[in-house]
This record gives sequence, structure tokens and C-alpha cells, in this order.
Amino acid sequence: MSIYLDYNATTPVRPAVLDAMRPYLNSHFGNASSSHSRGREAKRALEEAREVIASALGAREKEGVVFTSGGTEGDNLAIAGAAWAARDRGRHIITSVVEHRAVLGACRALEAQGFEVTYLPVDAGGLIDPEIVKQSLRPDTTMISFMHANNETGVVFPIAEIGQLARGRGIVFHADAVQAFGRLPVDVDALGINLLTLSGHKIYGPKGIGAVYVRPGTKIVPQIHGGEQEHSVRAGTENVAAAVGMACAAQIALESMPTENERLRVLRDRLETGILGNIVGTRRNGDRDQRLSNTSNISFQGVRGDSLMVALDLEGIEVSAGAACASGSPESSHVLRAMGRRPEIDGGGIRFSLGAGTTEAEIEHILDLLPPLVERVRAAEIQGIGVRV
Ligand SMILES: Cc1ncc(COP(=O)(O)O)c(C=O)c1O
Repeated sequence: MSIYLDYNATTPVRPAVLDAMRPYLNSHFGNASSSHSRGREAKRALEEAREVIASALGAREKEGVVFTSGGTEGDNLAIAGAAWAARDRGRHIITSVVEHRAVLGACRALEAQGFEVTYLPVDAGGLIDPEIVKQSLRPDTTMISFMHANNETGVVFPIAEIGQLARGRGIVFHADAVQAFGRLPVDVDALGINLLTLSGHKIYGPKGIGAVYVRPGTKIVPQIHGGEQEHSVRAGTENVAAAVGMACAAQIALESMPTENERLRVLRDRLETGILGNIVGTRRNGDRDQRLSNTSNISFQGVRGDSLMVALDLEGIEVSAGAACASGSPESSHVLRAMGRRPEIDGGGIRFSLGAGTTEAEIEHILDLLPPLVERVRAAEIQGIGVRV
């Protein structure tokens, strides 16, 4: 039995998405910047895709959607782009310690270029307190950047409340919605968002495509220079097939969101209560309620996350080690450490992230298999022989 429970890492392309993309990979292969028929056909498809993404975000202006090569480029474009655009007003940025590395990396690069970044802590449940955000505001703060949902724990930040702090102060609010989009309603007006990052491959679309929503009036400096594609914000020939695929995937995700969320919540809770109730030394990482319905991150005391991940892989079960290493080495999860978890005491974290293909039978199979497997890995670790299962 092969079981994939790593949907926060990536998702398979849905058949309908592949069907929608196919023509733009062969017969309709035109360059969206070409003026002839094939070019115009590609342009039309690209603009339709833009429209779909904009309306999925509740955005009135489709021009606000800028296609990128994915979430990482989107985070870099939004953060560096807005920071440089506002550099004459101030150079202070606020974010959190649990952001994705795409955001942390973009912030570190800005620090090296003379910007100042405040990395706010989270509580034991992985949540941020909007009051701390408020206290961190400075006259020279030009941007606040927070993830909507955390990729490791699924914890959902109070984005609307944080958005209100930015609004009216002339501060740009960027949200990394790579994990949230397609799983939670994301409305850029209701959330007070200026800039929002999306990625195609987390929503059953293709890899290598993403988008940044840019609110009209929010200034960003391009990070890739060249042609005038994407309203001169992001140069480079557009990946029309992937944009069409992402739009199709977004439509399906939004339509199925309410029922799929409920289905996954039931399966996730069954998995989580089964593990916490039947395996000693286990602990949930992340607030129980303020969480994506598909994600469960659990620490297993006395077990390295990567050891258990490999042991599960040998049984045909693919998960992610939230904390790559239980020895407290620099590789251990920055998210779990920020929540006060000590990998050497609490054990490594395993992220189970459920998705469209997850079934009840799979969850029951894991619940049968896991207790003896964890015992074997624990015994092996005590003897210092690593993964011998
Ligand atoms: C929260 C978050 N932001 C950004 C990214 C980067 O997206 P991409 O893989 O499309 O570059 C990811 C991917 O894991 C993510 O989970």
C-alpha cells in the first residue's frame, strides 16, 4: 500500500487541470506577447486565467494579478519589491520567526542591504498576538509580512486583525497565502491585503507557476528585468499553460473547499486522536482549532523526525519530518523551536498533511502500523543504531 500524506509539500496535477493545460503546450503554443493569431490566442487564455485568480481572491482588478514562477519568487517579489519601493519613507519591516524560508530569505537579503527586520515570536501554539505586532510598529515601518497558514503546523494567523493594523498607517501588508489558498477563503479586501503570494502546485496545479496579487496603488519595484510582460512588474515570457492550469485548479479548489475541508477534518482528527491516544510520548504541535483542516504535526518523544519519516517511507507511507533532526542541530525545524519545542526532549515532529486522495482506509492502515513502528524506531534509537526497522 502506498500512502501519500505530504500534500503541504506538493499535490498531483488534477486530470481536469492537465486537460485544460494541454492545448497551450502544443497546438496553442503561442507567445502571449506576439501580435499574430496564435499570440493573441495565448494572450486571451492568459488574461482569462488572470481573471479567474483575481475573482478567486475577491479582487476587482484582474490587472493586480502578476504571474510568477511560484511561491518563492512571489514572496521575493512582494517583499523586496515593496521594501525598495518604499525605501524613502522607511526601512523597517515586521515579520515572524515561523515564516517560510522564502520570506525569511528575502528578509535576510534586505537586512544585508540596509533594511531592518523585526522577527516576532509565536506562542506555544504557534500563534501570533496582533498586540505584539501593534507594539512593534515604528514610524519607519513600511511593510508587515505574515503567512496566512503555516506550512509545517497548519496554524492559521489572524490575518484580518493584522491587516487592520497596517491599514490607515500607509504600511504595506503582505500575506504568504501559499498554504491557505484553496483551503481557506482568501478575500484580499476583507483581509486588508496589499500583496498576496500564491503557488500553483499546492492546489493540484502544476509546479513552476504562482502569482502575486498587487493591490492597485501599491508600489513594487520589479525584481526581474527585461521585457514588459505582466504589466512591467515581472519580465519574461509567461508560462501560459501553467497559468491556465493554475486557474483551473483554483476554480476546482474553491468549488470543493467546503465539502473537502470537512472530509479532511474528520480524517485528520481520526488520525490525530488515534496517534495521541495510542502512542505514549506523543504531542500535537500547533493550536488545535486555529489550523488548516488537513494538517497534523506530531512530536514523538525519543524519536528523531527523520528516522520515523524514513521508517514510514519503507512501509510505503510518505510524510514530512517537521523537525528534521531531534538532536537540536541547526537543521531542526525553526517553526517547532519557535513554539518552544525542544527536539532532544520532545522528539522530532512529523507532519501529516492530507489531501484529495486520502481515504479512511489509509488512515486506519497508518493507525494500525504506527504504534509498533514507533516502538521499533525508539528501541533502535536507544541502542544508537538509527533506522533499523
Ligand atoms: C508557506 C509557503 N510559502 C512559500 C512556499 C514556496 O512556494 P514554491 O514551492 O511555489 O516556491 C511554500 C512551499 O512550500 C510554502 O509552504
